[in-house]
Amino acid sequence: MADRKPLISGNWKMNLNHFEATATLDKLRYLLSKDDYEVVDVSVHPPFTDIRTVQTFLESEKVPIAVGAQNCHWEANGAYTGEIAPGMLFKLNVSYVIVGHSERRELFGEDDIVVAQKVKAVFENGMTPILCCGGTLEEREGEATRGKVTGQIHAGIEALTPEQVASMVLAYEPIWAIGTGRTASAEDAQQVCSWIRAKVKDMKGADAAKAVRIQYGGSVKAGNAAELLSQPDIDGALVGGAALDPEEFARIVQFRLS
Ligand code: 13P
Repeated sequence: MADRKPLISGNWKMNLNHFEATATLDKLRYLLSKDDYEVVDVSVHPPFTDIRTVQTFLESEKVPIAVGAQNCHWEANGAYTGEIAPGMLFKLNVSYVIVGHSERRELFGEDDIVVAQKVKAVFENGMTPILCCGGTLEEREGEATRGKVTGQIHAGIEALTPEQVASMVLAYEPIWAIGTGRTASAEDAQQVCSWIRAKVKDMKGADAAKAVRIQYGGSVKAGNAAELLSQPDIDGALVGGAALDPEEFARIVQFRLS
């Protein structure tokens, strides 16, 4: 894992209202300790309607979990009914914004061009993008995974400086492993993450490739986190379903102890 500090992120998707968010974080804060935060960065990505509550709770209780968002628009403001501007998130002390999640790409038609605009906007507003990539089962079986994933990464980081890329987070999430209970084997996940790092090296140089953190996502649980996170090119996890259960999520954060 080189000297990259792992980042474990809980993507709550469209789950937990702001009351449930507080209850979940209240349990989580007792399960995690200073020792955990010293060796692992943790973020939670609640729905937009929870963010102010989550921010206030974490700050008042002095819990060093970073606030994240699941998406944003790329413009600073304007007539975009139903959208949220990146500057609005920054004002809520949001640190990380997930961009180009496969659910946004597949269900809401986000293409590589939109994703690249969002990545840029997140940086311009002082936050860190978590740029997602991932292939389908057909692509995996047809061995098209490498082309798909590196193509998404290419489009997402092309306009960025090597320093920006070094500071950002990439997330490999095979679509067939999301919410299915099927996890990529640690070897498979490592293989794809090593292709991603090689692509970054190709495009932005060795320093960016060495520094960029790459998460794996797709049915990560307490039982498989340690094996996945022990891979040399996997620097964290983007956790969906298991992040809704504070005990399970805490055990994932504490993967090094299992
Ligand atoms: P699951 O952990 O529920 O498979 O979701 C993964 C994911 O999409 C995280 O962004």
